[in-house]
Amino acid sequence: MINKLDALYTEFKTKIETLSTQPDVLNLKSEYLGKKGLVSDVLKSLKDATVEQRKEIGPKANAIKDQMTKDVVSKLSDLELAEINEKLANNRIDITLTDDVKNTNTHSGGFHPRTLIQREIEDIFLSMGFDILDGPHIEDEFHNFEALNIPGDHPARDMQDTFWFHNPHEESEQKKHLLRTHTSTIQVRGMQSRKPPFKFIAPGTVFRCERTDASHEMVFNQLEGMMVGEDISVSHLIYFMKTILKEIFKKEVEVRLRPGFFPFVEPGFELDIKCLICNAKGCSVCKQVGWVELLPCGMVHPNVLKAGGIDPEKYNGFAFGLGLDRLVMMKYGIDDIRHLQSGDLRFNTQFRTF
Ligand code: PHE
Repeated sequence: MINKLDALYTEFKTKIETLSTQPDVLNLKSEYLGKKGLVSDVLKSLKDATVEQRKEIGPKANAIKDQMTKDVVSKLSDLELAEINEKLANNRIDITLTDDVKNTNTHSGGFHPRTLIQREIEDIFLSMGFDILDGPHIEDEFHNFEALNIPGDHPARDMQDTFWFHNPHEESEQKKHLLRTHTSTIQVRGMQSRKPPFKFIAPGTVFRCERTDASHEMVFNQLEGMMVGEDISVSHLIYFMKTILKEIFKKEVEVRLRPGFFPFVEPGFELDIKCLICNAKGCSVCKQVGWVELLPCGMVHPNVLKAGGIDPEKYNGFAFGLGLDRLVMMKYGIDDIRHLQSGDLRFNTQFRTF
């Protein structure tokens, strides 16, 4: 019987060497090692053997089985390796572009100019210790108006033409929903979620039901900022604003501060920059005035702090709402805000950075 087992193994070994596919190897495995396989067949005759013989044959049979299993595993991995090598040799892709391909009409991707500016501003504010917050586009009246010191009957609601969601089942006025008209909603969410002192910015898209022209869009982008702590003053505000403008334009930019009215700040300002499109000569972007309103801002109104859960006796702060699209226009000399949303590749590809 030992001879039979040895012969079986030699035969197995010769066969497995000739095989070249994984299924063939697996078939051979079950032919020899399966329940009804050749090795089991031989072992069936063990029942007629003497105890002595069994002691000798048992371990031998197991050793042969083990060896066969090892041979199968190693053959399978050899085949796999051979397959991979073959693929590597034959399926090569040449990823270098030849000149004739480069000259065809292929476009590589790039960033929208607003993304470029937004990232730049985020980096600058992060380096100054600000957090970056986000908020929902669909808001309720509380976050967009009430908490910002704009009660229901306040005429300031008309300053921002609002897209309302109509829900006939709405029970209370307070719960009416709308598309946020400014990123100041995130001031409220920011105050509610942290304890002073804190400072953050919040870039985002806002919506107004307005006529569009060279400097107005219905869907546009702002970058809100807020700093709350003890003894914050207008000079902090001006410092941060000038720093950011200098970093973005890589030069000192002329600014002017005018009084401005926003119910959520007191005092409130309009920070304008000298129009860089026409160099203050007058153009459609600056409406022939030479200055562009870029940054409404002011000291946070005590009522707003209260609505955000902050004690106005102890803390104060500033807030600003940077017009992100206008900044992009100034930086890149774009004369119509509508280009930004046009999706026109001739426009977009001018700002490619790679
Ligand atoms: N939310 C105001 C607007 O969109 C801008 C603003 C923000 C003004 C913060 C003052 C302070 O018009």
